[in-house]
Amino acid sequence: MALNYTKKTINHFLKPQNIGKISKPDGYAQIGNMICGDQLDFFLKVEKGKIKDVKFLSFGCASNIATASILTEKVKGLTINQAKKYDWKKVVKELGGLPRQKIHCSVMAVQGLQKAIADYEKKGDGEVKKPIAKKKSVAVKKTASKK
Ligand code: FES
Repeated sequence: MALNYTKKTINHFLKPQNIGKISKPDGYAQIGNMICGDQLDFFLKVEKGKIKDVKFLSFGCASNIATASILTEKVKGLTINQAKKYDWKKVVKELGGLPRQKIHCSVMAVQGLQKAIADYEKKGDGEVKKPIAKKKSVAVKKTASKK
């Protein structure tokens, strides 16, 4: 059974964009699918709240590579908040569609990117944040009245 891939999907599979690693990434995540056995690694560089660079490594199928490729292409330059809203439906639309059996590949790519963003947010952005001032607690001492 031949799957119907769009020309754009085949192009991203044959010539993937943003493939590779980033040394000392600001965010990193690995994601895998236990059923199909495919895996993706995402690496992020963030500057002033924007995705300056994003790369991926794939140990997966043609759709795994194509969806990660177009996703990284589309989120590069976006703010972290904009990238968080980039869902799998947009990935599929950008590719001009995916065979029904391959939709999960786009879902995994988006989940992997979101996981790398979560890693970045967990680490913080390097800015020294002011601690939230605690309210001074006033100790009320009961004084025994002397009479
Ligand atoms: S078959 Fe699982 S990611 Fe493509």
